[in-house]
Amino acid sequence: MSADGFANGPPPGARPDWTIDQGWDSYSQAEHDVWITLYERQASLLPGRACDPFLRGLEALDLHRTGIPDFNRINEELQRLTGWSVVAVPGLVPDEVFFDHLANRRFPAGQFIRRADQLDYLQEPDVFHDVFGHVPMLTDPVFADYMQAYGKGGQRALGYGHLHNLARLYWYTVEFGLLQTPRGLRIYGAGIVSSLAESIFALDDPSPNRLGFDLERVMRTPYRIDDFQQVYFVIPSLQSLLDATTQTDFAPIYSRLETAADVPIAEVLSQDQVFTRGTQAYAAAGGRL
Ligand code: PHE
Ligand code: FE
Repeated sequence: MSADGFANGPPPGARPDWTIDQGWDSYSQAEHDVWITLYERQASLLPGRACDPFLRGLEALDLHRTGIPDFNRINEELQRLTGWSVVAVPGLVPDEVFFDHLANRRFPAGQFIRRADQLDYLQEPDVFHDVFGHVPMLTDPVFADYMQAYGKGGQRALGYGHLHNLARLYWYTVEFGLLQTPRGLRIYGAGIVSSLAESIFALDDPSPNRLGFDLERVMRTPYRIDDFQQVYFVIPSLQSLLDATTQTDFAPIYSRLETAADVPIAEVLSQDQVFTRGTQAYAAAGGRL
């Protein structure tokens, strides 16, 4: 998502808005092969797991088996569908830079790809996470509007000093969100769809709680960056997510949150809509360790 580090501006070689050329011609065959391996694993796993807008987006953008996609090619289709584009950045960018891109319908994506010995996990988002994970959902008009609204909301949250609360909304929707459908729960979060193991864990494992999405509840819930989530939040539809966030002024929520305690990560509250009351066995056994 975003990070600081170059407080005084972009790193050498980057533009003032932190974008760089993707340098598509410079990828090696080994790098394209990493994409192909990851793509094939996820594309065979995700039908019946990822939501229809994601699967449709994957088809529409033709992110198929030929290697790391050229952003210029993706952007022609993405522009036509929802007016979004993907821009390459050197890695994590400062919050205000990230929000400015989103607010202008530009999604900043890592240009590098993980090494072949890091297929299953890496800390920094690479081009597979960013493009395979995030970009298909940007072909959906409702989700496209949500992401732009989030960018504007981020600028506002910075002003109120409550980015830590808004970041939880991003985490539990854009990165790790689940969607309720007539055929069962489906994944729309980029952090899940870009991970083989979490695409199974998030839907099938008895450990995590799966709870109905409630805006203020989500903003009170911390999250894990280093392991599978202990709680996933389920939205009834993308439109309900867009409505719940854009039709609510977050300023009064931020001021309530000044004094409200966080909800412990594995807690189920009496007012929660419970899809799964998790055993938390995975976390109790030490998780990834
Ligand atoms: N309505 C939010 C606010 O008042 C902005 C927002 C919209 C934030 C959508 C996130 C997602 O700050
Ligand atoms: Fe991400």
